[in-house]
Amino acid sequence: MTMRNSASLEATYLARTPNSAAFEARGLASLPITSSRGISFHPPYPVTIDHAKGPFLHDIDGNRYIDLGSNFFSMIHGYAYQPITDAVTAQLARGSVWSANNAPQVDLAEQIVARVPSIEKVLFNNSGTEAFNLALNICRGATGRYKFLMAEGGYHGSMFDPSLGSKGLPGPSHFVAPYGTDAFVAAIRAHGSHLAGVFVEGIMGSGAFAQAEPGFFDKVKQACAEVGTVFVLDEVISLRVAEGGYQSLAGITPDLTMMGKIIGGGFPIGGVGGRKDLMDLTNPSTGHVLASGTFSGNPLSMVAGGLSVRHLTQAKIDQIGAWATRIEAAIVAKCAAIGLKVWTRRVGSLVAWFFHDPGPGVVYGGTRPDLAMVKRHQLAMLVSGLFPTPRAALATSTAMSDALVDEIIERIGASFDALLADPATETALART
Ligand SMILES: Cc1ncc(COP(=O)(O)O)c(C=O)c1O
Repeated sequence: MTMRNSASLEATYLARTPNSAAFEARGLASLPITSSRGISFHPPYPVTIDHAKGPFLHDIDGNRYIDLGSNFFSMIHGYAYQPITDAVTAQLARGSVWSANNAPQVDLAEQIVARVPSIEKVLFNNSGTEAFNLALNICRGATGRYKFLMAEGGYHGSMFDPSLGSKGLPGPSHFVAPYGTDAFVAAIRAHGSHLAGVFVEGIMGSGAFAQAEPGFFDKVKQACAEVGTVFVLDEVISLRVAEGGYQSLAGITPDLTMMGKIIGGGFPIGGVGGRKDLMDLTNPSTGHVLASGTFSGNPLSMVAGGLSVRHLTQAKIDQIGAWATRIEAAIVAKCAAIGLKVWTRRVGSLVAWFFHDPGPGVVYGGTRPDLAMVKRHQLAMLVSGLFPTPRAALATSTAMSDALVDEIIERIGASFDALLADPATETALART
């Protein structure tokens, strides 16, 4: 592999985004982190986005980016999707929240119950993190136990530090075990008498879309039943891969399902659904588990979520899966052509790539051996007019088109060229 001489990625990025640089400096005077979430920070600074429409983001320097991050896999119909913009605008004029029922909430609940076989009842709040909180409280209410088990490198929101697991430091309230393994199943039996619930993702988000072997979830369910604990499947990301979520593809029947992201149509959302007897614990006339939240079930999120789910037909899911398949193949072909080793994973509309062989297992973002390369490629994509996630992962959306996917493929090719043209890449590759 030969490196070409060229301006460094940093220099190109700085030259393209002076207004973002200045605004970042201004922002840091009053904010500890301008992107509001640690994972979105990257050196030298993240761009400041001015507006977003369809599959495009526009920064305050006038650069256009094709969105490949989907706001961490949530904007499945793109930005400012007209049906949602119109309906939410109409709802805004009728009030944004009140502490009583609203029709859009019932509509969204009915759609989810109709689509996801294991869900008999569902309750909404404002984020996947809140969904975790509610699910855990239901588990505690159902079992009278306090602790939970999760997978190493798993992520169920920011309520507790998930990286404790990957550092081998169980927190006060949870145990960790390796995803997709018999050791995970054994941990359920070993800790059973303490376990309120077992939380696991169908597709590991922060684990770079690792999938457990068929049969793993049957074993988890069996072990949960044996020790009398609640099996919670986190579908906050994976609900996008089929109308009935990943569980409908993989034949999983959890007791509870955590949801978020796409069921909010771009507005704050979280949801927990599942067995009627468990969900009814949150009804004050039949149960003792508190479900609350000043903005939970607000009609803006419900209206937007209702349209997001209704418009996500199986045909559209298949279409965005086909686009993701083309993009994955193009990544492989481009890297083969330029002599850069790459490995990929794809599940439906989700694609991840690696500069090292990840094998079948979990790759946790913060500790992956190719992190330096991933970070350099993020900059290379930004200077090539693409807006990726920070972890060498992308999602397609229904706002794309065949022609746009052609452009994405061309720009991804350019991003790999820009990556190799930067002399610093050699050092990053050597560290991988
Ligand atoms: C699998 C999974 N669970 C839970 C969450 C938390 O969702 P939120 O960011 O809406 O709090 C996320 C967020 O990325 C996630 O990927």
